[in-house]
Amino acid sequence: MSKTAITAAPIAPVLADRWSPRAYDSSYVLADHDLLSILEAGRWAPSANNHQPWFFSAAMRGSELFEQINAEALEGFNAAWAPNASGYVVVSILAKTPDGRDYSHAAAYDAGLAVMSMVVQAQELGIATHQVGGFNRTTMPGILGLGEDVQPIVLLVLGKLAAADTLQGPAYEREIAPRVRKTLDEIVLHGKP
Ligand SMILES: Cc1cc2nc3c(=O)[nH]c(=O)nc-3n(C[C@H](O)[C@H](O)[C@H](O)COP(=O)(O)O)c2cc1C
Repeated sequence: MSKTAITAAPIAPVLADRWSPRAYDSSYVLADHDLLSILEAGRWAPSANNHQPWFFSAAMRGSELFEQINAEALEGFNAAWAPNASGYVVVSILAKTPDGRDYSHAAAYDAGLAVMSMVVQAQELGIATHQVGGFNRTTMPGILGLGEDVQPIVLLVLGKLAAADTLQGPAYEREIAPRVRKTLDEIVLHGKP
């Protein structure tokens, strides 16, 4: 299924064609070289002062970490579809700058850039992605063995798109729903051509 964005002017195909599916091929194994490319894309994202306040935890299907995340950190709706994917990259951030100042909003912004870089790289490789914020933030740090100053911010689901009818209920309904966005008139406050 394609859900290419409808735009007022052309945008890069890798951006237009990206969307966040929930139907994944449960037999597809993500190649190590693809995972490495995705992690490298994250590593080379820009960040404020080049602090790179992010950590990546890759948990591929079949690993103990993947099973533990499924059993102890994924909940409700997300637990119904995400485990069919090939794996996850959980992105965590440092809570403080190297000199001890509160870092969270800058670090979250930087982590978003790293995640989007990984998303675009994955899309380029034909790998679908779905960012998930709905995980248990109490159990995840322990599962990943994070220190007190590091907090998980998002779980990036990676895998091969499967047919929508492999899903049921609300997940199926959302899979076949059109992608929607606010209009440019609603969000461009100044200077829209
Ligand atoms: C930070 C973040 C957290 C998200 N958390 C969830 C989630 O917990 N469960 C889910 O099904 N989708 C989640 N999404 C996916 C969004 O709902 C999705 O990106 C949005 O509806 C736009 O759809 P598109 O990515 O297909 O264009 C999340 C996306 C982001 C960026």
